[in-house]
Amino acid sequence: MLILSPSILAADFTRLGEQISETVRAGAEYIHFDVMDGMFVPQISFGMPVLETIRGCTDKVFDVHLMIQDPGRYIEAFAEAGADLITVHAEACTHLDRVVGQIKAAGKKAGVALNPATPLSALDYVLDELDMVLIMTVNPGFGGQKLIPYCLQKARKLRNICRQRGLETDIQADGGIKASNAREVIEAGINVLVGGSAVFSGDVTANTKAFMDVFAEIEKS
Ligand code: DX5
Ligand code: ZN
Repeated sequence: MLILSPSILAADFTRLGEQISETVRAGAEYIHFDVMDGMFVPQISFGMPVLETIRGCTDKVFDVHLMIQDPGRYIEAFAEAGADLITVHAEACTHLDRVVGQIKAAGKKAGVALNPATPLSALDYVLDELDMVLIMTVNPGFGGQKLIPYCLQKARKLRNICRQRGLETDIQADGGIKASNAREVIEAGINVLVGGSAVFSGDVTANTKAFMDVFAEIEKS
């Protein structure tokens, strides 16, 4: 199933609830939360209070992307705050296997994210435990960047590895994703697309529908 996960980092924070409802009405199935700590990535964004506040806005999947150092410290807190799916960076975990176990013990879906230069081999021993792999298609820390093309080759390779292992793992692309490159991204084996500026800059309904149109076209063919 093709899923759009709008990243609220690009939303108008004075109308956050409204814009979330708008993109959900237009077809978004997930809401993507870019949690940044100013250590693992240069930016600082937001944390549990924001998540708690808008949990009541929708029952759609809260897809929480932890771009924080040593995320094992906060798994329970984000689970409590309303996360449905928690993704941690392999590069930010000293004990990745343990953190994946923490997410599952909290009853949430588990994702692992890889920065562009991080090889797929980082997933070798945890892939079978994961609900999703997040392939960063930009270097994390900012919205509005350009997609790095070699990351799509990486996604293609990962989809093949999943097939060989008989895994139905979701593969998410995050960063520089637009309705205009969505087809190419999906053809690389990605089925969960994060759109930040592509959804929230300008007309949220029209931007969301542009992704839905691409999804419908592909699912029809
Ligand atoms: C980057 C974040 C992305 C970003 C996406 O560090 O993980 O989710 O907000 O924003 P766009 O879609 O504008 O590149
Ligand atoms: Zn993200």
